[in-house]
Amino acid sequence: MDTYILGIESSCDDTSAAVLKNTRILSNEIANQTIHQSFGGVVPELASRAHQQNIIPVVEIALHKAKIAKKQLNAVAFTRGPGLLGSLLVGTSFAKSFAMGLGIPIIEVDHLKAHILSHFIDDSSAGEHPSFPFLCLTVSGGHTQIVRVDSHSDMEIIGTTIDDAAGEAFDKAAKIMGLPYPGGPVIDRLAKEGNANAFQFPEPKIQGLNYSFSGLKTAFLYFLRDQLKLDEHFITNNKADLSASLQATIIRVLLSKLKRASRETGIKEIAIAGGVSANSGLRSELLSMADKFRWNTYIPPMQFTTDNAAMIAIAGYFKYLDGDFGSQDITPYSKNKMVKNI
Ligand code: KG4
Ligand code: ZN
Repeated sequence: MDTYILGIESSCDDTSAAVLKNTRILSNEIANQTIHQSFGGVVPELASRAHQQNIIPVVEIALHKAKIAKKQLNAVAFTRGPGLLGSLLVGTSFAKSFAMGLGIPIIEVDHLKAHILSHFIDDSSAGEHPSFPFLCLTVSGGHTQIVRVDSHSDMEIIGTTIDDAAGEAFDKAAKIMGLPYPGGPVIDRLAKEGNANAFQFPEPKIQGLNYSFSGLKTAFLYFLRDQLKLDEHFITNNKADLSASLQATIIRVLLSKLKRASRETGIKEIAIAGGVSANSGLRSELLSMADKFRWNTYIPPMQFTTDNAAMIAIAGYFKYLDGDFGSQDITPYSKNKMVKNI
């Protein structure tokens, strides 16, 4: 029997709904909230209001594109956390009432676990699925982690950032340069025209498999402040080289710990996930490392890198198979709960 899962994602500033038939994607709708661009970052109060406006139309479009009726759905999976509480409340409340109306179960999904499980969505753009155990570098606006994945449900963080996330480093550096939000894709684009060796920025010396990106952000800020004293057009004249040099530093830091994690665990199945996994420099560097170290690498299709509900639906699908359902008194959580098992 086929299983139809409706996925709902509302953890930050994207309202998304997707329908999966087993592991195959039928639709994946995303309403981006452009309102935050003029503030240079996500404004939580505005995000939750926009989710309220978007959620019903987005779900309707997702069902329409999937060409299925509501009564065919077997369960509703939703992001319970981590994320912005006000945003999560919209998706959680919607999922509960929608499922209750249809008399079907709800399934709570951890957002970070969903980013990783996006590798198991069957779609014409998707490649092979990683085999267990694999390591996943999960890099987004809120998180930077190396996760050891032993099964669809058993995951362990073996390295994490102790301060800023990699996506935050991109976004904050972009803001310092006066570039629009989110800065990651803009820096990625500019970096293609720049020289990655033009400027040197310090790389953090953090023990073990952990990361730190706040020092890099500060170093970038101070460097620009000094240069602007000498030349007020320094940023405008060097945008591409600054972007390329900063991006190269972030990628070097990310991949050196990933290399170490592979060496220490002996795992050569290596995946990346999350918004920053859309970065073209990271994607190509990972491929060169794969050649060098004989890794099997898994890079998600672009549509599954940034926040989307298809990844929530696939995570929900695996829980559905385990009969792991949620109750109507569930409330969202804002902080990361992914310690041993999520
Ligand atoms: O996974 P995601 O959509 O949301 C979170 O869960 O945080 O990730 C968003 C982050 C933002 O920081 C954005 O700047 C970054 O992913 N990002 C990129 C690129 N595309 C998105 N960073 C670097 N290069 C990109 N091409
Ligand atoms: Zn995310």
